[in-house]
Amino acid sequence: MRNLTRYLIKLGLFLVAVLLVSHLFACKYSGERHTKQPPPAVACVGFRGRLGNLMFQFAFLYSVSQNRGLYPVIPENFQPSEPFRINKTTWHLLGVNKSPCENITSYTERWPCSFDEKLMDTPILQSAKFNGYFQSWKYWIQYENNLREIFQFQDTIAQRADKQLRDILSTQDFPCCSENATIVGIHVRRGDYTSKTVNEYGQITPNASYYQNAMDYFEKLYPQVLFIVASDDLKWTKIALKGRKNVHISLGNFGPEDMALLSLTNHTIMSVGTFGWWVAWMTRGITLYYKPIFAPGSQYSKDFNNDPSSFIYPGWIPMV
Ligand SMILES: *[C@@H]1O[C@H](CO)[C@@H](O)[C@H](O)[C@H]1NC(C)=O
Ligand SMILES: *[C@@H]1O[C@H](CO)[C@@H](O)[C@H](O)[C@H]1NC(C)=O
Ligand SMILES: *[C@@H]1O[C@H](CO)[C@@H](O)[C@H](O)[C@H]1NC(C)=O
Ligand SMILES: *[C@@H]1O[C@H](CO)[C@@H](O)[C@H](O)[C@H]1NC(C)=O
Ligand SMILES: *[C@@H]1O[C@H](CO)[C@@H](O)[C@H](O)[C@H]1NC(C)=O
Repeated sequence: MRNLTRYLIKLGLFLVAVLLVSHLFACKYSGERHTKQPPPAVACVGFRGRLGNLMFQFAFLYSVSQNRGLYPVIPENFQPSEPFRINKTTWHLLGVNKSPCENITSYTERWPCSFDEKLMDTPILQSAKFNGYFQSWKYWIQYENNLREIFQFQDTIAQRADKQLRDILSTQDFPCCSENATIVGIHVRRGDYTSKTVNEYGQITPNASYYQNAMDYFEKLYPQVLFIVASDDLKWTKIALKGRKNVHISLGNFGPEDMALLSLTNHTIMSVGTFGWWVAWMTRGITLYYKPIFAPGSQYSKDFNNDPSSFIYPGWIPMV
């Protein structure tokens, strides 16, 4: 009887030991399996240009990654990560020791300012690199709500823009405008668009008549209008808009700060380029854009596949 008891105790201890060891082993094994898991297939984009361009490229990358089951690789110092709520999906975070964007199948867009449906037809779960500007809302319209969350400004920049707007509205500089004024954001893009080589390519920027006509449009629509203007050519802008009392020209902001300020307005007057495009998309009011967006027959018109409708967001109004 004593022997049997002792035997049972020994057997019990042995079973406990076996269970413990196998449990530890299982944990270790699954741990190893976890770290040895192959990294996911990735989507990469050859990022280039400034804020507006990078936003189009990111929106494309996001969409492609979502519907192909890919990890969207963004650079370590991705400029739009500063103003916006973009997840830091860098390749370093994958735990691999070199960029997964090399030596993978690559695809190049056929048109920088149009929709290339071939890019939406690449294999799922297979790493791919995409080259281009991807300046079409059609690439990501099915994820537009997600992108509206992602392209929310970070708190510091949003608060700064709010304060700037309140300061503009509370100064007494605008006798035209009561607290009920309609606020219209204007982006005047000139810069490289005024250079001869860029013009010869077919890229044009509106003259003063366009801005005056666009402003008249809103003044006919609303009793009191205040215009808030951002530009990369303040000297030209001051001359073009002189004589109007209800204009505030933004000075001293960085690009993202101007974007945040203009996005708080009620309506948008675009010029050309992607910066004003995103301002209008964020503002979600009436948007006027410059109708002769490319010189007919130019090299630039081919970038649009001769049709601006994949670039221009639905509902925006052409103006000359
Ligand atoms: C960003 O990462 C968080 C945490 O992993 C996740 O919950 C969220 O869905 C991600 N956002 C986007 C837009 O992918
Ligand atoms: C890519 O392929 C080339 C040629 O096969 C090779 O020399 C290079 O090391 C590869 N790069 C990576 C990051 O795998
Ligand atoms: C602004 O609109 C409100 C509501 O219509 C009105 O009560 C108020 O008097 C208006 N303020 C001014 C300064 O016109
Ligand atoms: C602006 O361009 C339009 C069309 O090209 C032209 O009719 C108009 O006279 C120009 N206005 C100014 C102020 O140059
Ligand atoms: C116009 O924009 C201002 C500032 O963002 C906002 O307070 C106001 O509600 C907007 N008005 C309309 C009619 O949306």
